[in-house]
Amino acid sequence: MHMRKKKHRDERLEKVSGYFAVTGEHGELLADESFPEPGELWVEVGCGKGSFLTALALRTDGKRLLGVEKITDALLMAMEKCASADCRNLKFCNADASSLPDLLPPHGVERLFLNFSDPWPKNRDREKRLTSRTFLQKYKQILAPDGRICFKTDNRPLFDFSLDCFREEGFTVEHISYDLHASPPSGTTEPFDIQTEYERKFSAKGFSINYLEAFLPR
Ligand SMILES: C[S@@+](CC[C@H](N)C(=O)[O-])C[C@H]1O[C@@H](n2cnc3c(N)ncnc32)[C@H](O)[C@@H]1O
Repeated sequence: MHMRKKKHRDERLEKVSGYFAVTGEHGELLADESFPEPGELWVEVGCGKGSFLTALALRTDGKRLLGVEKITDALLMAMEKCASADCRNLKFCNADASSLPDLLPPHGVERLFLNFSDPWPKNRDREKRLTSRTFLQKYKQILAPDGRICFKTDNRPLFDFSLDCFREEGFTVEHISYDLHASPPSGTTEPFDIQTEYERKFSAKGFSINYLEAFLPR
């Protein structure tokens, strides 16, 4: 995601600072009054400007939603969106996905959403893909026993690569669709119908959207 540096970024971040997740001495996520436990923890990794999570927060009760994003300017826009929608159960973390096991409780994440992750098309960059085996091994450390990963992308080579990686890492994959809008999966209650910023952009250009859900058999 290429972004121009936001004007008055620090002042703007200060105004929405209540939407930062509270973290401890070692960067680990802590419960606080506005983000209490219990409540399933649902995380979007690479949340960009936050439209998916904001829409999800408005239709979801009793869950703790967390957006993880490495680019501060994108995160600022997500936090401002969340503040204007007055979402109470949504927080954000300015972090790289590689640090998720340090940030989140072991086996504490019920849903992990990967929406339109950067494709990193060059083979030498394959380990940077958020669905590479390196990242899947990190997600396994934080995924709850009944946890599920929901993945969407317009990029078919990335989708095929990801399918292989999920299977190689022992995940069961289901609700696969190669054209989510024309053939939505049946029998899933996951919020696959909430369109993300990139989803709107790429489907408007005529790209079909690929979707899958992955979980570890018990
Ligand atoms: C193509 S955008 C998609 C944004 C949003 N999920 C959507 O569907 O509209 C990918 C986002 O993932 C973020 N990202 C990529 N690699 C990341 C990483 N290792 N850790 C955290 N965020 C990452 C990028 O900064 C970017 O905002």
